[in-house]
Amino acid sequence: MSPIRELPIFLMGVGGVGQAVLRQILEHRDLHAFEYGIRYRFIGLADSVGAVLAPETGLDDGRLQEVLALKADGRPLTEHPLGVPHSGDLCPVLEGIHVAGTVVVDCTASRRTIPALLAAHARGYAIVLANKKPLTEDLEVYHRLTRVDGTGHSPRLLDRVRWETTVGAGVPVITTLHRILASGDTVHRIQGMFSGTLGYIMTELEKERPFSQVVREAYELGYTEPDPRDDLGGMDVARKALILARDMGWDMDLWDLDVENLYPPEMDRLSVDAFLASIERLDQRWADRVGGALAQGKVLRYVAELADGQVHIGVRAVPKDSPLGQLTGSDNLVAFHTRWYRPHPLVLRGRGAGVEATAAGVLSDIVEVLGP
Ligand SMILES: NC(=O)c1ccc[n+]([C@@H]2O[C@H](COP(=O)([O-])OP(=O)(O)OC[C@H]3O[C@@H](n4cnc5c(N)ncnc54)[C@H](OP(=O)(O)O)[C@@H]3O)[C@@H](O)[C@H]2O)c1
Repeated sequence: MSPIRELPIFLMGVGGVGQAVLRQILEHRDLHAFEYGIRYRFIGLADSVGAVLAPETGLDDGRLQEVLALKADGRPLTEHPLGVPHSGDLCPVLEGIHVAGTVVVDCTASRRTIPALLAAHARGYAIVLANKKPLTEDLEVYHRLTRVDGTGHSPRLLDRVRWETTVGAGVPVITTLHRILASGDTVHRIQGMFSGTLGYIMTELEKERPFSQVVREAYELGYTEPDPRDDLGGMDVARKALILARDMGWDMDLWDLDVENLYPPEMDRLSVDAFLASIERLDQRWADRVGGALAQGKVLRYVAELADGQVHIGVRAVPKDSPLGQLTGSDNLVAFHTRWYRPHPLVLRGRGAGVEATAAGVLSDIVEVLGP
């Protein structure tokens, strides 16, 4: 048997997805050894306040189980026997560690990881992102992370940086887009339903239920963010669409996107409770919209459309028997209309959220980023 290569990992973010990545790596140690000749060695893990570090030896599996138990208990990494505090900026932490060939994995939802990612990148470390923020803030940061010499005019850096789960979670949307682009095919249009939460809300509205009841239910079931306006405002979908647009070479920023907000801007000032208590006033407007669509054999879907260098995100009435119309619950769907995929688009559909499916996508990125 060929010798096993040890691959160092530094994991930023040990929340739902980060913990699942850690669990899945421990679970698949034999698979990675036998099929890929790899053993992952955690040289560091960090949450929002602390880090557990072992740059020289790596953390043994017992220590990693302690981290999982601690985080499952809702406690910070500073309480781990090897835990040290940090300021929220992981640059100084990474600077204290020099391990060639490290893969830095960002499973946070924070823009504060950007300086550490750029520092890791400058050092030649590989990077895997579940976090959309580094790719959707400054265009310059996007280029620095994804292009060989940091400009939009230099070759892509796909062998060192992966971000598959930033769009569609475990559904391979980014890989598919990059394969289409690499073949020289022309993308005419991308249509996507990228929000499980808004997918759920739209399919419940189709049953002619009041908007207020559906939103409150989604909130109580934990399908929405703690503030449901984070979903209803469309910004999460906008970040996903922006990643696809930038990956196609469109030099855009979030403010260039046309995004429909599902509630009026004056409701931004309310507390979460006050917002939830006052959304009945939107019910009639939504009942009219749903009724109008149903009368034409259509249903409403919250859709991102990318075509001709422009991105439009909002509610569309689509035929009930179309791929988007048939989508139910929290599934995601993306349709690539290209030169070679017509008249029917290339369609991907599947679970667009969930920590295990997302972690599996992160793990595939980790395995692929340096190759077996
Ligand atoms: N959940 C899904 O289904 C899903 C699907 C696709 C993509 N994603 C993306 O995956 C990422 C993680 O999602 P999640 O559901 O796991 O979120 P989460 O449960 O909120 O976990 C976020 C983690 O990041 C840590 N963190 C925050 N700021 C940090 C900093 N400055 N330095 C280091 N760590 C920091 C948090 O620390 P504390 O533990 O101290 O709070 C927490 O451990 C997000 O970007 C999300 O958009 C999630």
